[in-house]
This record gives sequence, structure tokens and C-alpha cells, in this order.
Amino acid sequence: KLPQYNTIDDAVSLLQSKKNIMVITGAGISTSLGIPDFRSKNTGFYSQLLARGFESPEDVFDIENFDMDPRTFYELAGEILPVLDKTSPTHAFIRLLQDKGKLLTNYTQNIDNIEAAAGIDPAHLIQCHGSWATATCRKCKAQVPGATIFSDVKAKRVARCTACVQRLSAQQQQPKKRKRAPNSNSNSSSRSRGKHGHVYSDDDSDGQYDIPEPGVMKPDITFFGEQLPNTFFDRLTDHDREKVDLVVIVGTSMKVAPVSEIPNFIPKDVPCVYISREPVEHINFDVTLLGYCDDVVSELCRRAGWGLDHPMALKG
Ligand code: OAD
Repeated sequence: KLPQYNTIDDAVSLLQSKKNIMVITGAGISTSLGIPDFRSKNTGFYSQLLARGFESPEDVFDIENFDMDPRTFYELAGEILPVLDKTSPTHAFIRLLQDKGKLLTNYTQNIDNIEAAAGIDPAHLIQCHGSWATATCRKCKAQVPGATIFSDVKAKRVARCTACVQRLSAQQQQPKKRKRAPNSNSNSSSRSRGKHGHVYSDDDSDGQYDIPEPGVMKPDITFFGEQLPNTFFDRLTDHDREKVDLVVIVGTSMKVAPVSEIPNFIPKDVPCVYISREPVEHINFDVTLLGYCDDVVSELCRRAGWGLDHPMALKG
């Protein structure tokens, strides 16, 4: 029995007829803007790290490693900083689906937050792996706009929490309770400011100083070892699973769970279209369209008679 759908025209008629389209995206939809993907040979961020001698490049995004030593992340993160004001034709395509009232949800694995620049409604967007849009202190949990730490990232410098810095300096200015008078002539461990202005702990008796430090800022990207946002699971199970009538997957190798599990989770009779430069062997799609996604979506729109309004869109 021939599969029900397999050609580009099948994909076009699915796009035209379906009303609740789930779009799953990955790094491939932003490569035309100069942001590298992760796993493409030679150009992918992880592939480049492998070539530079990193044995397991995914460790750069491992939360335990980050907490142990954030310097590796800050050394490299500048290479994947987002370009905030540019969008690709594929982002414009997702926006077009939204404008037509067909976008159920865009599950993006991308952390570049370009969906916001493309005008994707947050009510239809799940940023599965978080984003650079905000950053949070690992110590006091203060959250700031992500752009606040961009200058540190660009300078390859570990970003510290300004809320912690302010709190610590306020603490330093408060007179400290002392067991002995500050001018006590005892030569034992009375505490004063350290030479770097740190506040030393008062109950230290063995010569080891506890020096409070401002917390390290981490962009609100979901690292390996961290939970995906609850909105991911809630939206998928309580909302989308019942409603979805077409899945379109674009520019992702579908190698990272749980996003890679989504096609298995939704009802089998929901057709699935895959658009990417390279085929994926481990998932069965109804229609696979291999090529540059910007060109493929331009062609889909041309055949559907939809205007794709983007300067980089392929004109037919
Ligand atoms: P990958 O790099 O694994 O996959 C990107 C896919 O897009 C590859 O199959 C490429 O062939 C394809 N591709 C690249 N440019 C393209 C283009 N212009 N047109 C069409 N296809 C193109 O990236 P993801 O699948 O997004 O996690 O990776 C998933 C997760 O792995 C990321 O979210 C990231 C990483 O660990 C975090 O950032 C926490």
C-alpha cells in the first residue's frame, strides 16, 4: 500500500487543509542568519569544538560542569550569541501560519529567541530549551534581561550577579558585631575587610576565610541535567496532543530528548512533514523535503499561493 502522503504537493495540500499545525524547529532555521547549528559537519558548534579537541562538546551545556567551573561556557558562548533583530524566511513562514490562524504551537529548541523578533505569539510558542532572553543568578536567583550579560559573554568573562554585588557591598558597609573591640591588641583572628574588599566570616577560627562572592549569572538556557520548562509538558499533553492535525519539523536533527520523542507521542494518524538539509533515519515521516529550509518553505508557499513576505525568501 502506498503511503498516503509523500510528495511536495502532498505537503502543500496538507498545509492548506489543516488547521492546527505543530511546528518543531531546531538550529537549522537560523543558520542562514550566521548562527551555527550544533551537529552539521565542519560548521556545527559541537563539530567545531570536537575539531578543537573537546572530547564531548555537549558538556559545555552540562549544568554540573557549569556550576563547577563556568569559565568554559563563558569562553565559548560568544560563538552562539543571537542576532536579535534578524529573522529568516523560515521564521517568516511560521509567522505566516500564525497569521492564517493555523499555528497550534511552535516548539522551538532554539535559544536565539528570534521567534520573538518574528512576532510569534508567546501563547503559541514553547521555547523547549529556554533562551538567551533572560539570565538568572545561580546563587540568589535574581533574573535580569539576557542582554545584560552579553558584554561579559563577548569579553569571555564570567558574568557576576549585580544584585549579589549590591547586597554584599551593603553588608560590608554595615558595622559588624564583634566579640572583641576592633582595636583589640589580640593577635588572633579578629576580622576586618579583606584586601579585595570581601567580607570575611566572623566565626572562622582556623585561619580559613569564608569569602562571600557574588553569584554567577547563567543565561536561562536549559542545560543538560536541567528539567525542561513545565509549559513544555503541560502544553503537549493537556492541549496539543488532542488538537494537532499536522506536524511540520524543520532544521533539527531530532537527536535530543524529549523533543525527539514528540512524534512518537502524538496520534499515529497525524501526518508529519520533515524539512531539513540531511535525512533523519530514526523517525518515520510521511513527507521528507531535503534542502535549505528557507528555499523549501518559499517553494511550499509559492505552490500554495501564499505570499511569503521576507527579503531572503526565494522568489518563484
Ligand atoms: P542540530 O545541529 O543537531 O541539527 C540541525 C539540523 O538542521 C541538521 O540536521 C542540519 O542538517 C540542518 N540544517 C542546518 N542548516 C540548515 C538549513 N539552512 N536548512 C535546512 N536544514 C538545515 O541542531 P538541533 O537539532 O537544533 O541544546 O539541536 C538540538 C539541541 O542540541 C539544541 O537545542 C542544543 C543542542 O544541545 C541547547 O542549546 C541546550
